[in-house]
Order: sequence, then C-alpha cells, then structure tokens
Amino acid sequence: MTKKLHIKTYGCQMNAYDSARMQDVLAPLGYVPVDTPDEADMVILNTCHIREKAAEKVFSELGRLKKRLKLGGRTPILAVGGCVAQAEGDEILRRAPQVDLVFGPQSYHRLPELVARAERQRGQGVLDIDISPEPKFDHLPETGARGPSAFIAIQEGCDRFCTYCVVPYTRGAEFCRPAAAILDEARHLAASGTRELTLLGQNVNAWQSDGLGLGGLIRKIAAVPGIERLRYTTSHPAHVDEALIAAHADEPKLMPYLHLPVQAGSDRILKAMNRGHDADDYRLLAHRLKAARPDLALSSDFIVGFPGETEADFRATLDLIDEVGFVLAYSFKFSPRPGTGAAAMDNQVPEEVKAERLARLQGKLEAIQQGWYARMVGHEMPVLFDRPGRHSGQLLGRSPFMQPVHVPAPARLMGDLALVRITECHANSLAGTLVAA
Ligand code: 5AD
Ligand code: SF4
Repeated sequence: MTKKLHIKTYGCQMNAYDSARMQDVLAPLGYVPVDTPDEADMVILNTCHIREKAAEKVFSELGRLKKRLKLGGRTPILAVGGCVAQAEGDEILRRAPQVDLVFGPQSYHRLPELVARAERQRGQGVLDIDISPEPKFDHLPETGARGPSAFIAIQEGCDRFCTYCVVPYTRGAEFCRPAAAILDEARHLAASGTRELTLLGQNVNAWQSDGLGLGGLIRKIAAVPGIERLRYTTSHPAHVDEALIAAHADEPKLMPYLHLPVQAGSDRILKAMNRGHDADDYRLLAHRLKAARPDLALSSDFIVGFPGETEADFRATLDLIDEVGFVLAYSFKFSPRPGTGAAAMDNQVPEEVKAERLARLQGKLEAIQQGWYARMVGHEMPVLFDRPGRHSGQLLGRSPFMQPVHVPAPARLMGDLALVRITECHANSLAGTLVAA
C-alpha cells in the first residue's frame, strides 16, 4: 500500500543527503515523498542545531504542524530527526507529546523498525539517539536516482572540536567510508544520469581510507564514466595536503570553486576557536591553491562576536577578506551552543556589538559577491542544466563556480552540460544564452 512521506529539511547539505537517504530507507515500506504535510501519513522534521535557538524553532514548528494537521483532521506519524533530535531528544519527547518518534543522524538506517514501533505505541514516544559507531552506511539500501547533480557522503562527524561548534556532539566522531563503497555509489549514480557529484563530510578533506586521501579519491571518482564534475564540502584548512592541491592543479573535473571556511582573521581569535591554524597559514594556503588552479574561486564562513573579539580583531577579519579575495561568504553572529567550550567563556560579546559587526561584514560581502557576479558577464562557460527554469522554454543550471544560470534552452538539454555566454547578472543568479556548437 502506498503511504505518503513529507520530510522538512533544515541545515546543511549533509542533512539534505540524509533526508534523501531516509526516503530510500522508507521506500520499501511503501512510502513515497510528497511536498506538503497535509496529505502525509508520516512527517519528519530533519533538524539542525548549528546556531541560534535551534530547539525553540523546532518546538514552534511542531506547534504550527499540530494546528495545521488538526485542521485537516489528520494524525500522521510525527518524527523529529537530525541534530536537534540528537542533542535534545528527551526534552523533545517531554515537551511535545504529539511526537511519535525521535531519532538521531546515526540511527536513520533503523527507521523501518522504529516506525513500526511508533505505529504500535502511538503517543508513547520512541527514542533512538544511539551514536555508537555502528556504520549506518553498511545498512542503507542503494541510493535512488538523484538527477544531474547529487551528493555522496564520504565522511561524517568531526574530531577537531572547534570551541564554538556542536557538530562533534551531534554527529559524533569522524568516520570515513571505504573507497570501494563510495566508488560503487558514484557508479550507480552515474548510471542513473548523475553528471556532477559533491563529496560531503563535516570535515571532508580529513577523509582517508585504504591508503588514499581526498586527492586520490577525487582522481578515482573522476575516472567513473559519466561523471563530468566533482566538488567537495566542507573542508578544513588544516587538512589540505599536497595531493589535494595537486588534484586542483591537474584534474579538470574538479571544479574551480572551493568553500574553505576561515571563520576569523585574528590569530588570537583563531586560537581561542581552536582552529589549528593562524591567519598567515590560511593566506599561504589560499596562495598555493590559486597557484595550482588560477581561476579558483574561494568562499568562506565567518563568525563575528566570538568571545573576546575586539574591534581590532574584527578589523583583522575585514583585512583578511581583502587580502585573500574571497568571492562570497556566509557570516553569522556567534551563538553559544550548549556544551561547547566557547559557550562557557566569560568574555561574551554584547548582542548589539555582534549585530553591528555582522551588518558591516555583510555589507562588505554583498558588494564583493555583486562584483564577482558582474565580472562573469561576457564570459563563456559550461553550465550543467539540472532544473527546469522559472519560465517555459528555460532551463536552470550551475556554472563551474556554483552560480545559478538561467538560459533559454530546449528541455532535451536537461541533465547535460552546454556552453553558455553570460549576458546578465542579478543579485544571486546569472542569465545567459547557449553558444551554438
Ligand atoms: N555560532 C555561530 N556560527 C557558527 N557556525 C558554527 N557554529 C557556530 C556558532 N556556535 C558557523 C561556522 C560554520 C558554519 C556552518 O556555521 O561559520 O562554518
Ligand atoms: Fe546543522 Fe551541523 Fe547538523 Fe548540518 S551537521 S544539520 S549544519 S548541526
């Protein structure tokens, strides 16, 4: 019997990957994905705990859902998964008795039995936040078809313990999938039409297995027939080795866009964050990467108002942005996360100072991104069409630098790479025309 499953996903690309894998796990039980909760037989919130009042957001979403479903006269199974579930599972069951099931990021391969238990004991609340290193990947079914651009989780968890970050607590210790399993998944996806793969991990370039590092793995995946483009995220500066830099130099399928977060430009703050590198290490690394791949575009994440951050520290961040020449970046106010080292530091920065610094930083970053988009106009570049466009007769694709590009193009080009001349830039996208072959 067909049942309907609605998953609402928050947070990072790893969560998006997990949501797709949950669908794979539940498909044999007859669950098919639907876009809204209204008709669903099961609703899963796949949550994120990285910043700001994450748990509160989940509780208000649960409240809204309860009302909406009651109005519709439906009582689907309600499940909370992901990183808030991992961190606050007991609290969720205590405060939201309408929740039938709570499970963590390392338990979703057990969903079939968990859902069966939740169905038997409606209203009692089933909890599975076991984070033992039993590799869930060994128990997951083959991935379903994912379309032209797909993710593969190759590494999960983090052992670095940056002092602001909850990830080591919600995702657990670092775990690397074996190269053979990753290559199988890559071949399977390529056979189903995937052309671009993004290798995922919380600390993806710490991946190593069978004597290989990420650089070596990239070369093996690049050799899989059908795979035309490779990316990886999110990487840590301390784990960029020679082999990875060499892959940027001479593996043309590795795309020239790299998200390599630096977080701050002040050595004092980088040390308090336990990042394991200083600002000069990062400058040097950026220089080496760009020497290897001259068109490489670097992006970053920044945290403002980390405990003890002075105006001078903040200015060091602004200076680093100018020196490195990031093309875009994501910036956040420091948010004390329960259980992390930085949350317990006694020199917290006042909220209004954080807000003021964030506004200055974001003003600067917006101008940088706009300048970068504007420089694309007039250039020709291969675009991978992965979605229908907003209007009929249009396709939406991605440039080598991850920018969305709108192009008038026939539907038969969906899933293909084509050469496009960029004609216009907008705030967050480009537009162009096909270059006749
Ligand atoms: N407060 C603010 N930003 C954070 N990030 C991670 N933890 C925190 C925190 N406690 C940011 C970092 C990271 C991105 C995914 O989220 O910049 O790179
Ligand atoms: Fe959010 Fe981090 Fe969990 Fe991703 S791993 S969902 S960013 S808390």
